[in-house]
Amino acid sequence: MPHSEKKVPPPAEPSRKFRIRDSWGSRLGIIMAVAGSAIGLGNFLRFPAKAVANGGGAFLIPYFVSLFLLGIPLMWIEWTLGRYGGGFGHGTAPGIFHSIWQKNRFIKYFGVIGIFGPLVIFIYYTYIESWTLAYSFFALAGKYAQLNDQGMMQNFLRGFQGIENNQFFGGLGTAYFFFLATFAVNITVIYYGIKGGIERLCKWAMPLLFICGIVLMVRVMTLGTPDALKPDWNISNGFGFLWNPDFSALKSAKVWLEAAGQIFFTLSVGIGVILTYASYLSKGDDVALSGTTAASTNEIAEVILGGSIVIPAAFVFFGPVEIKSIAASGTFNLGFVTMPLVLQHLPLAQFFGFIWFLLLFLAGITSSVSLAQPAVAFLEDEFDISRKKAVGIFAVVSFILCQPAIFFLKNGVVDELDFWGGTFFLVVFAAIETVLFVWVFGMDKAWDEIHKGADIRIPRIYKFIIKYITPLFLSLILGIWLWQEWLPIIFMNNVASENKMYVLATRVGLLAVLFILALLVKIAWRRKKLQGEDMR
Ligand code: ALA
Repeated sequence: MPHSEKKVPPPAEPSRKFRIRDSWGSRLGIIMAVAGSAIGLGNFLRFPAKAVANGGGAFLIPYFVSLFLLGIPLMWIEWTLGRYGGGFGHGTAPGIFHSIWQKNRFIKYFGVIGIFGPLVIFIYYTYIESWTLAYSFFALAGKYAQLNDQGMMQNFLRGFQGIENNQFFGGLGTAYFFFLATFAVNITVIYYGIKGGIERLCKWAMPLLFICGIVLMVRVMTLGTPDALKPDWNISNGFGFLWNPDFSALKSAKVWLEAAGQIFFTLSVGIGVILTYASYLSKGDDVALSGTTAASTNEIAEVILGGSIVIPAAFVFFGPVEIKSIAASGTFNLGFVTMPLVLQHLPLAQFFGFIWFLLLFLAGITSSVSLAQPAVAFLEDEFDISRKKAVGIFAVVSFILCQPAIFFLKNGVVDELDFWGGTFFLVVFAAIETVLFVWVFGMDKAWDEIHKGADIRIPRIYKFIIKYITPLFLSLILGIWLWQEWLPIIFMNNVASENKMYVLATRVGLLAVLFILALLVKIAWRRKKLQGEDMR
């Protein structure tokens, strides 16, 4: 909501205190929205691929250790910091960090990562989400129904993505059309605001997503042994392939890093979106139980639904040898090549294909709207402009930024955006938040703050875990990662030489976005100072 800028309020009654921000309509609404942000493509594609590659059932050990020592503590930290900052009219990290550490002039600039990260992920995530919308239509229309091997389906995908011109697609036109439609739906949802847009979407999309997931899981579980000549290619061996533990994998640091990375990605922690969502809560609203509920809902969708669809189904139709290369071929192949082929083998193939891509689309859109909201909230809160204007600015800027991801996908631009926006800065941002929460805010005050209005008491052991173990774990992840990967990444050792210019240009672009955001923070604070606003 805009507030009047004409009359400068007297210092004793700072105008910020009287600003009316958007709010959630119900507790169920915010839980659905946070769970919607968390449940995404990561749950159904990234998780099973990571589990197969990192020890099968044994992967669940580092995964759950990371969930309890990093994921859940960070959920509580972000919900609590968000609600606290919202009390001062701030919905994004620059303002929230500043409210916590007012004496430090620089801390608000670290908060820029909490707007940068979601914006960068939004740029490529929306494009990938648009593929799921396109494939929902292709499934219903039977557009790929005659394709029956991995190679053909792969060509279909490559043609659609504009990577090559082939008999299926003569350029990027179809993909661009579905991108425009997906982008427009996203913008429309955020245009209607927190309660009228995001909450309303998540309240029907999340139950529908679970229905689609359960229908597919039951279908996969009842596959039995489709080919009597290959009795080993059965569904229980499919589950065995995914979950039989290889405990020797636990000796590798990489497996632990992968598990921690998956927890960040899947819970949407360390990004900045939960801070923003929680900033629309009221002071007395519970965060302890709501945060736990949202995280648990995500875990059910990930371990139970995500672990029961793609890999076991692919095993039954492709067998124990081919499944290994399929599982290693990455999330896009699993989602857009393997799974449609698997579903082709079933009666009602078009229907099940549609349900699969609808599931991915719902998972995608409930995540992408959350990625858009921090930038919009920043403009509204820190520049006091109306939501409509903020959404307009966001739409124009993000639309322009999406273009390199669309046109230079084959040159590694999306991978580069995903690395910085969706991996590296998540851990950095989580580390900053945790240090602020524990050491600047102070653990005793933080513990009281988590429990304000809480419907549960968090076990006391978490006071110790949040204070020492979570920061230590984060430092270890960052330290080991820097030790192992820093130089090869900086020097682009793993980038094909013809793509180096594109990757470099992406890096320069990302630096420019970071710089502009920092400049906007500077301008916003200067403006507020001149207007005599309460600077908390
Ligand atoms: N948490 C979202 C996902 O899993 C980003 O896809």
